[in-house]
Amino acid sequence: MRPNLRTESLGRSFLMLDECSSTNDVATRLAEEGAPHGFTIIAKEQTLGRGRRGTTWFSPKGGIWMTVILRPPPDFKCPDSLPLLGALGIARAVQTTLSIRVLVRWPNDVMFQNLKFAGVLVETKFTGNALDFVVLGLGVNVNFRSTLINTEIGHVTSLRDISGSEINRSRLISSILEEIENFYERLCFGETSIILERMRENDWSSGRVAVVHFDKGKVTGTFGGYETLTSVRILDEHGRLRLIETGAVSSVEYCGL
Ligand code: BTN
Repeated sequence: MRPNLRTESLGRSFLMLDECSSTNDVATRLAEEGAPHGFTIIAKEQTLGRGRRGTTWFSPKGGIWMTVILRPPPDFKCPDSLPLLGALGIARAVQTTLSIRVLVRWPNDVMFQNLKFAGVLVETKFTGNALDFVVLGLGVNVNFRSTLINTEIGHVTSLRDISGSEINRSRLISSILEEIENFYERLCFGETSIILERMRENDWSSGRVAVVHFDKGKVTGTFGGYETLTSVRILDEHGRLRLIETGAVSSVEYCGL
């Protein structure tokens, strides 16, 4: 990976494992022990890979299973935008390295047409109100057949299936880290308009009907685009425009998928 990598901090120091339970768990432990900003854990295989809402994330050899430790500055305001930022980084890296048009499905998936091939799991550690660190977990189905994935999950694919050939994973990893670092630095400097512009260019969700679930209650409506990096517009069943904060959402079901 190193010869390809053009980042300042993300992936500059890393741990490569043959196998682990979950790279997010290893990252959390190392962050608690003081691992620096940008430290990256990559596993060839995960035995207990996790997705959002406690789901299992199938992680065989051939995928990219990687977690980046972020130590945001004290005035950092947008942890809720990080899943989207991670998904956007993956989408742009796939587009530049493989010339495959892929899009981001709010709040944290990367899609080829109506098939998911990558997802992001962000976990945070706070002390009181202060954000100590973030672990940004990125999972990309790369060099294995998506038929290996439990079909109950449905609507999934891999880059190998899309392109029909073996993908150079180290090149893709470097590109993902570069894209995410670029967006993350802009976020830290408050330059959100360029990120929003890229989100809109790579937006899978607009015009789709979705059921958005909260801890209490739900809203059904048509996705009307990004208001900010942490909020979206939904036109509900009664024709009312609702502004929804991503951080308040527990899950999203897209209709017809
Ligand atoms: C999702 O779409 O539900 C999120 C999937 C995130 C999977 C990645 S793989 C690397 C990291 N380690 C984990 O256990 N999960 C994330």
